[in-house]
Amino acid sequence: MASHIFLLSTPFLVFSLLAYASFLASFAYSATGAEVANGRKEAEALLEWKVSLDNQSQSLLSSWAGESPCNWFGISCDKSGSVINISLPNSSLRGTLNSLRFSSFPNLIELTLSYNSLYGYVPSHIGNLSNLNILDLSFNNISGNIPSEIGNLVSLTHLALSSNKLTGTIPVSLENLRSLSVLYL
Ligand SMILES: *[C@@H]1O[C@H](CO)[C@@H](O)[C@H](O)[C@H]1NC(C)=O
Ligand SMILES: *[C@@H]1O[C@H](CO)[C@@H](O)[C@H](O)[C@H]1NC(C)=O
Ligand SMILES: *[C@@H]1O[C@H](CO)[C@@H](O)[C@H](O)[C@H]1NC(C)=O
Ligand SMILES: *[C@@H]1O[C@H](CO)[C@@H](O)[C@H](O)[C@H]1NC(C)=O
Ligand SMILES: *[C@@H]1O[C@H](CO)[C@@H](O)[C@H](O)[C@H]1NC(C)=O
Repeated sequence: MASHIFLLSTPFLVFSLLAYASFLASFAYSATGAEVANGRKEAEALLEWKVSLDNQSQSLLSSWAGESPCNWFGISCDKSGSVINISLPNSSLRGTLNSLRFSSFPNLIELTLSYNSLYGYVPSHIGNLSNLNILDLSFNNISGNIPSEIGNLVSLTHLALSSNKLTGTIPVSLENLRSLSVLYL
């Protein structure tokens, strides 16, 4: 009786191990899939911003097409393919920041858009860039107040907003930015 059970349970065990291995394999695959999905989300967010810019700016960003942004003009990624740097200084960009979905870039370290023709406000959702070290929006036509949410960017070392049309007072929340070593307002 015992050996009978053994004979039945051996193939069952083998089957279980195979099922377990394929479960692990599918788990490993879905982790990679999540990275790909995240890269695609970042690409979509960049393209959404691109179409909000004026026609001439869009033609300057002609390399911005497809689903993987890592080789696009002004964009760099980390090894996992996530965007860490958006650096487009002096690139003749005209438009606003309203359509840039900042929450799509959890790994962004640098956002440099200085010496362009950006106008409109600094959106409060810029505070979603939780890993940002460098924010340079200087030499544009940005107006309105500095949003207090900039104080949420606790990793900032470099903040440049000078040479715009900003008004109002400097938010008290900037005192939260303990790592700040360069500040141009
Ligand atoms: C941009 O280009 C599209 C199509 O080429 C045109 O319909 C539209 O009027 C242009 N917009 C501006 C602001 O030039
Ligand atoms: C971002 O890219 C610019 C242009 O390639 C480069 O000068 C800068 O050092 C980069 N920043 C980071 C944090 O890698
Ligand atoms: C911007 O680019 C133009 C030419 O592409 C150059 O002449 C100018 O010096 C640049 N300005 C800055 C501030 O880098
Ligand atoms: C800012 O806007 C004014 C007019 O509204 C324009 O003359 C000027 O060239 C703009 N500056 C930049 C950097 O876009
Ligand atoms: C992004 O920022 C806005 C404004 O500060 C906030 O309401 C929103 O919850 C944030 N979204 C994410 C996904 O963090």
